[in-house]
Amino acid sequence: MEYKNLGRSGLQVPVVGLGCNNFGRRCDQSATSAVVDKALELGVTFFDTADIYGPGGLSEEYLGVALQGKRRDAIIATKFVGPMGEGPLWGGGSRRYISDAVDASLKRLQTDYIDLYQIHFPDVKTPIEETLRALDDLVRQGKVRYFGCSNFTGWQVVEAQWITKTEHLSPLVSAQNQYNLLDRRIERELVPACDAYGLGVLPYFPLASGFLTGKYRQGEPAPEGTRLASAGGMADRVLTEGNFQTLAKLEAFAESAGHSMVDLAIGWLASQPHVSSVIAGATKPEQVEQNVKSAEWKLTGEELAEVDQITRRS
Ligand SMILES: NC(=O)c1ccc[n+]([C@@H]2O[C@H](COP(=O)([O-])OP(=O)(O)OC[C@H]3O[C@@H](n4cnc5c(N)ncnc54)[C@H](OP(=O)(O)O)[C@@H]3O)[C@@H](O)[C@H]2O)c1
Repeated sequence: MEYKNLGRSGLQVPVVGLGCNNFGRRCDQSATSAVVDKALELGVTFFDTADIYGPGGLSEEYLGVALQGKRRDAIIATKFVGPMGEGPLWGGGSRRYISDAVDASLKRLQTDYIDLYQIHFPDVKTPIEETLRALDDLVRQGKVRYFGCSNFTGWQVVEAQWITKTEHLSPLVSAQNQYNLLDRRIERELVPACDAYGLGVLPYFPLASGFLTGKYRQGEPAPEGTRLASAGGMADRVLTEGNFQTLAKLEAFAESAGHSMVDLAIGWLASQPHVSSVIAGATKPEQVEQNVKSAEWKLTGEELAEVDQITRRS
């Protein structure tokens, strides 16, 4: 396993991490533990969860159980802001809410520190300085080691990091945003901002919810039990004519290079210098195994240019 620094921090994260939003939804405790055990066995030490994954924080709870006795070898990333109850006191980025949210996450995770605490998405009702000061306090208290953001735009990253710099607060070390072969929008503004201000990029939906593995075929029913098997929502957004056309071209390219589609989806992200860890979700240990292997493909400049031809939209 290759490890990279998370942004300009000293924290070394594996180039393949594990997204944990299946835990507590499609994975029960025993399926969660099987996936987590396989991950640790393969050097996948970085686990990305959130308070709102699984009803009532179940993803954090299951992850906490799965990591019992192994905490020292794991890097736990979680998030706050999303609603954990009714009304304005049960979510957001206020100092008041963060103080409660961190303790609740620590309890569910059965640990006394969070390695990476992420602002899940911007809270327009709270001044960002208040959120950053509250996070800096958590670092000083030892409850949190590093903090980062998610779903921020380029200017929001610059504004936030400028405040941490001028106010002498701990810096943001990461930005988590949607990024995959079908969606490269962050390359315009967010990625240059992260490069300039020292944040590592953590791409979410790296496999477009499994679509980029090639397991969904146009005109055929989705394989039973898979994430996009239930119609509506995500399936409607991802299983489109345009995406199937791009997928066909990507598959042909991967095959000509002697690789699978999963290799291309993960290897391409892992080959981007701004990407710190590809946090692919998994419901089975075999998927983790395959995803780790896929990151071994380091695309050459020529191969990256070919992918650009297929995926770049003006
Ligand atoms: N910050 C945010 O707002 C945000 C939003 C979304 C996600 N995230 C984070 O990003 C992580 C990754 O995103 P994601 O899990 O939603 O989507 P993803 O990584 O694009 O796709 C995960 C799904 O792909 C399938 N899969 C994985 N490896 C496979 C393999 N080798 N072969 C075949 N199928 C495979 C599994 O589908 P099946 O379920 O069909 O087995 C798995 O559930 C999440 O877990 C979460 O931690 C963050």
